[in-house]
Amino acid sequence: MKSPANINHDALLAAARAARENAVATFSEFRVGAALRAQSGKIYTGCNIENASYGLTICAERVAIFKALSEGECGFDAIAVVTDADKLTPPCGACRQIIWEFCGDAEVILGNLKGKMEVHYMAALFPQPFDVSNL
Ligand code: THU
Repeated sequence: MKSPANINHDALLAAARAARENAVATFSEFRVGAALRAQSGKIYTGCNIENASYGLTICAERVAIFKALSEGECGFDAIAVVTDADKLTPPCGACRQIIWEFCGDAEVILGNLKGKMEVHYMAALFPQPFDVSNL
């Protein structure tokens, strides 16, 4: 029988996998889905959205976080990221800054379409952060 933690991971990975279907990866063809679990229990999803002006591309993780914040949500405890890569895809540097700022030491659940998964914590992925404590 699965532990409740695994059930939560599976649900979040499934939401990220579904969000990935909407990826707008016109240029890289690297499709990413993310799912963010708020402490309220709600799940917010995101996908990467690319632009012909490449630098305007936004990652799946930030789409999920900004969607949640824009709907008045605050307090998050986990984010899942799903791609089709054999080597699991961790959040990029810009996303790590944003995840740390709004989610703190959240769980980061990485998965791929073959069912491989790993769980990390933000404090390990983003040591010595710049944040409000530095201002
Ligand atoms: N990307 C994400 O959406 N999240 C990540 O964690 C890594 C990278 C996107 C940005 C771009 O659309 C594509 O993946 C290739 O870098």
